[in-house]
Amino acid sequence: MRTQRPRLHIFADAAAVTQFAAERITTLAHSAVAGRNRFTLALAGGGTPLGLYKQLAAWPARDYFPWPQTHIFWGDERCVPPDDSGSNYYQARRTLLDHVPVPRTQVHRIPGELEPHKAAGLYTSVLRRQAEPGAGWPRLDVVLLGMGRDGHTASLFPGTIAPEERTSAVMVVTADYDDRPAQRISLTPRVFNDAQHVIFLVTGADKAPAVKEVLAGKYRPKELPAQRIRPRFGTLTWLLDEAAAAQLEQA
Ligand code: 6PG
Repeated sequence: MRTQRPRLHIFADAAAVTQFAAERITTLAHSAVAGRNRFTLALAGGGTPLGLYKQLAAWPARDYFPWPQTHIFWGDERCVPPDDSGSNYYQARRTLLDHVPVPRTQVHRIPGELEPHKAAGLYTSVLRRQAEPGAGWPRLDVVLLGMGRDGHTASLFPGTIAPEERTSAVMVVTADYDDRPAQRISLTPRVFNDAQHVIFLVTGADKAPAVKEVLAGKYRPKELPAQRIRPRFGTLTWLLDEAAAAQLEQA
């Protein structure tokens, strides 16, 4: 498989990561819209991207971003209702989507309130409907991802690699991490690795050991799911603050 080396950008702090990410995503959005009159963005869960979502909801991004042409997806969702504070959709709605003119019909959330296999099936259909004719999922313009202290990303957790990761676009996952809902739904690396641009946002000293293992250690995709993200044709960018990159720089 042809893959590119990740591009690393290290910033002084999380605010600088956020600023760069907002500018980069805005540029990529305009370039996608110039080409196809459409921009597709998959959001990440967790706390790290919330500052970015707020930044995109504020001036100038709010006014200069091509929201009417933007389609929003999620890389993963926790199996809770959409108004639960543990829902990735809820967090993105509260920080971003309620404040920008993205058409509601273009917000493609994962229905975390449904029985998980049913939700995964429905989201598989959503992806297919939004794809080029004959394809199973859209080639997303930008995928945002975070990473856990254990090297997980989206809801791809350390342990075994589920067969569905190789056969499906969407899968059901059960995994305990902190006090977050254990039942989850995730896109698979098949979808992530077809994206045009994958951008990891990782900040904080607690992530430093995992950043070092994933980016500078041996390729151990079972133990370090973030290593399974290797876009086939697109770019892979890691945006880190100095705290998260601390051990990397010494490696
Ligand atoms: C989720 C995620 C998950 C997240 C990481 C990092 O739904 O929990 O999408 O992969 O991105 O756990 O989370 P933090 O940003 O909160 O550290």
